[in-house]
Amino acid sequence: MRTQVGIVGAGPAGLMLSHLLARLGIDSIIVENRSRAYVEARIRAGVIENWAADLLAETGVGARMQREGLVHEGIEIGLHGERRRIDFKRLTGRGIMVYGQHEVVKDLIAARLAAGGKIEFEISDTTVHDFDGKQPKIRFKKNGQVQEFSCDFIAGCDGFHGICRPSVPAGVITEYERVYPFGWLGILSESPPPSHELIYSYTERGFGLYSMRSETISRLYLQCAPDEDLAKWPDEKIWQELKRRLGPDGEKILKTGKVLEKGVTAMRSFVIEPMQTGRLFLTGDAAHIVPPTGAKGMNLAIADVLFFSRALDEFYRSGKTALLEGYTKKCLARVWKAQRFSWWMTSMLHLNPADNAFDRRRQFAELDYVTTSEAASKSLAENYVGLPID
Ligand code: FAD
Ligand code: PHB
Repeated sequence: MRTQVGIVGAGPAGLMLSHLLARLGIDSIIVENRSRAYVEARIRAGVIENWAADLLAETGVGARMQREGLVHEGIEIGLHGERRRIDFKRLTGRGIMVYGQHEVVKDLIAARLAAGGKIEFEISDTTVHDFDGKQPKIRFKKNGQVQEFSCDFIAGCDGFHGICRPSVPAGVITEYERVYPFGWLGILSESPPPSHELIYSYTERGFGLYSMRSETISRLYLQCAPDEDLAKWPDEKIWQELKRRLGPDGEKILKTGKVLEKGVTAMRSFVIEPMQTGRLFLTGDAAHIVPPTGAKGMNLAIADVLFFSRALDEFYRSGKTALLEGYTKKCLARVWKAQRFSWWMTSMLHLNPADNAFDRRRQFAELDYVTTSEAASKSLAENYVGLPID
């Protein structure tokens, strides 16, 4: 077996890369250790930046998103229960698309398979080899048998816990990291969201986020301990806390419903430099993680693979390697801005156990400022809808 680009991981990064490459006439194979059903049901991100929604639509995988996705023109910020709106449309001329990551994954898998794309699901023991030369190899087990293919490039799109980043020789990568002393307890529920837009709520009880997947399905989060024990959170207690963190009208406007999914996510900021070595290129969560408060993770994954696909296009058309060599620099310019924004949103909205009464009042002043100053709310808005991409 041989291909031009061997891709490890069928998340948003790996699937979108394979899709973009196919449109450029570049062949790829994806290997994924989970089943198709598993990756299509994995509930993750919900917010797609403006340019990324356009890219999905322009490249032929956005039809269902345009039908079923929700276009939002702003968000609400709660300050001790008082909600203030940030109007993205007025401030930036743009909005965001609320559409589940697993729906994007479903659309991309369907498009790749319909176009004859190769995705090997349910493989194990993936290893990557010889990326310091011109003929890298990917080895894995399928149905108990070892298989191998060679390629010109390997794309490490295997997420934060994947094998590609740890395969880079010692000393090449520098890691930059911050771990936060809190996490999110998230539920997906069969209930209408409390507002038609997302609510990011700062309260003395901790942060709450009220998002959605449709007009009848809510995605709700509570700040919790990073290692919170879910067993201590029966549904009744989760609903009660969600209502309290919404504000005085929480009881009235938050409708409850069947809890379809429940989980705890720890939070970290993480970046590696460089994102490449030889002919191994890392993309998305394999190279960087943001805390979810800025809704940037999936969008960064899509930006990385867009830049990588352009670099590969240049290489296969002309033999030039300038864009490949500049891949890390190009990605990190965007990644660090998203890191800054995600860190800022996270620090502004969560109660940090290390903070004191001074910090609480400073946080409140910042939220008050950001929701009343045109300049400050415009800065939040332009980052949230997504910085321009070139
Ligand atoms: P992943 O989605 O992790 O995909 C990696 C793939 O590689 C997986 O399918 C995995 O099974 C596979 N894999 C791993 N190891 C191997 C191996 N050894 N061999 C083969 N395959 C392997 N981002 C946003 O943009 N907006 C949001 O609103 C948002 N909200 C979030 C909320 C939560 C609670 C969480 C947890 C994340 C959120 N994110 C959000 C982040 C977003 O989900 C991730 O950034 C995104 O999934 C990254 O995509 P990826 O393709 O790089 O990695
Ligand atoms: C979500 O809908 O899952 C979501 C929305 C906004 C965020 C994080 C997650 O900042």
